[in-house]
Amino acid sequence: MASRLFSPVTLRRVSLPNRIVVSPMCQYSSQDGRANDWHLIHLGGLALSGAALLFIEATAVEPDGRITHSDLGLWNNETEQALVPVLDAIRRHSSTSVGIQLSHAGRKASCRVPWEGGTQLSMAEGGWETVAPSAVPQNDGERPPKALNVADLERIREAFAASAQRAVRLGIDGVELHAAHGYLLHEFLSPISNRRTDAYGGSLERRLRFPLEIFDAVRAAVPADMPIGVRVSATDWVDGGWDLDQTLALADALKSRGADWITASSGGISPRQQIALGTGYQVPFAEAIRRQTGLATIAVGLITEPDHAEAIVAGGQADLVALARGLLYDPRWGWHAAAALRATVDAPPQYWRAPPREHAGVFRRQPRSV
Ligand SMILES: Cc1cc2nc3c(=O)[nH]c(=O)nc-3n(C[C@H](O)[C@H](O)[C@H](O)COP(=O)(O)O)c2cc1C
Repeated sequence: MASRLFSPVTLRRVSLPNRIVVSPMCQYSSQDGRANDWHLIHLGGLALSGAALLFIEATAVEPDGRITHSDLGLWNNETEQALVPVLDAIRRHSSTSVGIQLSHAGRKASCRVPWEGGTQLSMAEGGWETVAPSAVPQNDGERPPKALNVADLERIREAFAASAQRAVRLGIDGVELHAAHGYLLHEFLSPISNRRTDAYGGSLERRLRFPLEIFDAVRAAVPADMPIGVRVSATDWVDGGWDLDQTLALADALKSRGADWITASSGGISPRQQIALGTGYQVPFAEAIRRQTGLATIAVGLITEPDHAEAIVAGGQADLVALARGLLYDPRWGWHAAAALRATVDAPPQYWRAPPREHAGVFRRQPRSV
């Protein structure tokens, strides 16, 4: 039987030859939000992984929306121009489609990079005032964020839309809004972080409001044939927090507004989370969203084996499968999956001599003009 993981799928104008996705991965390697030679090496390498869709890391829509001083951004001409050589190189040497994840870190901004501990920077250390739906910190002892007022919400909506327009100008193929992992949009969704009493807090409908406004602003800012998806935390893993039922309501609302996929992740809003970690532990969320709303889903989280990825797609649990750590560890994972599943994958002609004899037919030899 032909592999389903290596069957084509279409998201609006984007046709993908397989369903393998490079999950967005923060690199904390930018200066003033600008991409540089690290991004060229990192993304360039992953563009040769065999994955049909490659996401650029969580990219801040305004400077205060960065997790760290070193996050990638897309808020001005300098940050936009810095991505040009990276994208040019990928397009010259790879057939992968490129998406970008747009993000605002909310109350999880102003931190050290993970390899320096990841903890909040004090103002004296160069930190900045964080923002959130309510003045409730993520962790005890942290500086409380500023509760956003209506003018702030307007500014952030416009920042998302402006970044999306920059992505369009850069020729990026698709946009994913980061509404997961405890960052700003998730903070509006979850009753743990959203204690507002105005039109943006309280009932489920009100907690959905700001993320949906952001979605509408971005959808309106980009061409109608450009796909847009949303990454959600399908559950907070905390009693009384955001959960799958609420996620399904959000997904329904997003579908009716023109979302093209949901990436089903989880957690990140509270140190009280109790995550049931295990192989493919978030796949049931992708499956529930797909089955109950009819939206395409991307499954992610501890998916490392080609057979498992194949079973997820073949079993109708998700339309696409994203890998993060597995692709960092084995940046030719897509090749190896194609070989294991007796499928074919694009590779640059410079590498056509690579496959061992038993996998001699694994490359779809499509000559490219270099
Ligand atoms: C180095 C690293 C950076 C990450 N950065 C992001 C990010 O920018 N946006 C995001 O939504 N998830 C991010 N994640 C989470 C991954 O995209 C993915 O959801 C998670 O690692 C689970 O998938 P995996 O088991 O294949 O690694 C990151 C993960 C890693 C390991």
